[in-house]
Amino acid sequence: MSKGALALLISGGTENWAPARWRARFTRVCPDRSVALVPDDAVEAAQVRYAAVWKPQPGALRLYPNLEVIFNLGAGVDAVLADKTLPAVPLVRVAVDDLTQRMTEYVVMHVLMHHRRQGYYAESQRSRVWAPKLQWAARELRVGVMGLGVLGRDAAQVLARIGFDVAGWSATAKAIPGIRCFAGAQLPEFLARTDVLVCLLPLTPQTRGILRYDLFRRLARDGKLGGPVIINAGRGGLQVEDDVLRALDDGTLAAATLDVFATEPLPADSAFWSHPKVTLSPHNAADTDPDAISVYVAEQIAAFERGEKLMNVVDRTVGY
Ligand code: NDP
Ligand code: OXD
Repeated sequence: MSKGALALLISGGTENWAPARWRARFTRVCPDRSVALVPDDAVEAAQVRYAAVWKPQPGALRLYPNLEVIFNLGAGVDAVLADKTLPAVPLVRVAVDDLTQRMTEYVVMHVLMHHRRQGYYAESQRSRVWAPKLQWAARELRVGVMGLGVLGRDAAQVLARIGFDVAGWSATAKAIPGIRCFAGAQLPEFLARTDVLVCLLPLTPQTRGILRYDLFRRLARDGKLGGPVIINAGRGGLQVEDDVLRALDDGTLAAATLDVFATEPLPADSAFWSHPKVTLSPHNAADTDPDAISVYVAEQIAAFERGEKLMNVVDRTVGY
């Protein structure tokens, strides 16, 4: 009996994410299965049992009557869940060490940049100024990580290992060695002890716009950085962008590091580009190795066909 086909519905992304490259990868890791890049390759809709997707066109997955599993090729599923016609089959997201390690690198790099005042030293170098400032210890900086899932937990643990005073906040209560854990309604306490707020939440109806002015006002104001700092590598929809700018301009926030934006690519006329208190990157905090993702999907399909449970299935009732 022939194995069900894997359909690839992929748009956007960098050169390494080009649809044809994904076809080559999946053909390599699923050698005994038909792999069809949609819409380029001909495939009989009834043969398709699996779909691997990145930002598919809304309605596109409805065309496969025998679809059994959808694999999102990233960790965040907000784009795919925006399709209200998405078939009611398991939706699996990416959770691989390669992605986690890259996100942790990004978070650690930016926390350290603020902690070690890298902006000041880069400017000093440009101005040929030799003027070291007093440096406090990592334990004196309170970092708060919003989202203690696959990514937030690892980043929090590595930050704690470096010596920062780390807390985290999640929807449900957690116990993570070395991390002070807050959940749900404990948000005010979590914010009040936070100098650097790292956001690694998923974008859901509950979290959309959570990074807004009244939240920024509740962050600690007695920390070492002269004002609170935010780092958002979750999704652009988590931040109210006018509120971020207002808070930076009136001193409610001392600085912001942003990897994600409401509109991507960031429009050329966005005030973020040239804001002196903003460090930005083009949504590449964790630009995962596609080879690792294709192996992950192929292994999950093989396990599913052996009757084993799928891993990292999205709970559609909460949106992540
Ligand atoms: P997970 O699903 O593993 O973790 C999500 C965390 O957020 C969980 O701890 C969850 O709490 C918490 N959470 C969700 N909703 C709420 C809420 N309403 N209140 C409080 N906490 C909440 O996701 P990942 O860690 O794998 O990824 C997080 C996000 O990072 C992705 O959704 C994606 O948007 C973004 N991302 C960005 C990338 C980039 O390059 N910029 C790359 C990859 C991902 P609980 O554990 O209690 O359920
Ligand atoms: C993801 C991303 O969700 O790259 O994986 O943003």
